[in-house]
Amino acid sequence: MRRVGAAEVAARKGAAFPVVTAYDAPFARCAEAAGIDVILVGDSLGMVVLGYDSTAQVELADMVRHGAAAARGTQRAHVIVDLPMGSYEASDALAVASAITLVKHGGASSVKLEGGETNAARVRAIVDAGIPVCAHIGVLPQTAALGSGFRLKRERERVLRDAEAVAAAGAFSVVLEMVDDALAAEVTERIAIPTIGIGSGPSCDGQVLVLHDVLGLYPDAPPFAKQYAALADGATIALRAYADDVRARAFPTVRTKALQPNGGSAYRP
Ligand code: KIV
Repeated sequence: MRRVGAAEVAARKGAAFPVVTAYDAPFARCAEAAGIDVILVGDSLGMVVLGYDSTAQVELADMVRHGAAAARGTQRAHVIVDLPMGSYEASDALAVASAITLVKHGGASSVKLEGGETNAARVRAIVDAGIPVCAHIGVLPQTAALGSGFRLKRERERVLRDAEAVAAAGAFSVVLEMVDDALAAEVTERIAIPTIGIGSGPSCDGQVLVLHDVLGLYPDAPPFAKQYAALADGATIALRAYADDVRARAFPTVRTKALQPNGGSAYRP
């Protein structure tokens, strides 16, 4: 089955489309089953899956492993995979080589990189190599802790310049992270490619959220993220019930085993 292409995502300008992160096959499958056909394998995986306190420690190999897993869990979805810190900034050649790695081995339908005007040349180089790029402006998590900060972005000229630079460089879409709502609306009006907002108000063309924030699996979700489920609580309750059963010798039972559709084997080849 053919995957949704970058051009189809670009054609959703004005369409109000959902995007969610996923980092493994089971949750990518859930997203696709929920009708979300644009999945971001974000380097947020460093925090929500790998337990780091920022995205800075994430390596290209992590993105390859998790991107490939998310791609294996889906059939049709467009899979955007993040270029992590250190994999693109130094030169166009490095950026292109890293993007090719994500496409060849990391299941990427396209790649995402952080930075506006300053990284527009990298966007152009990757696009010229035939790989679609989703840009990312506003708050830039890879470097925010080092200086640019996690504060809402309100600098109108700067944000507009960044948006126009990445659009002119050939990006097919752009994430606006924590950009003032009115400014995000102006950017969305101004550029021809879809804006995908996170903490940037309702006027963006698409919206993206981190899966673990949506599902209640991450304790430090940002205030703008809406939690639609409390899966960490559900998982804890289920695991406590299992542990109680084991301690009470109520599990396993012959009946439990017989009820398994695969005859009781938890691990299927
Ligand atoms: O890494 C990520 O999940 C992201 C989103 C927050 C947009 O870049």
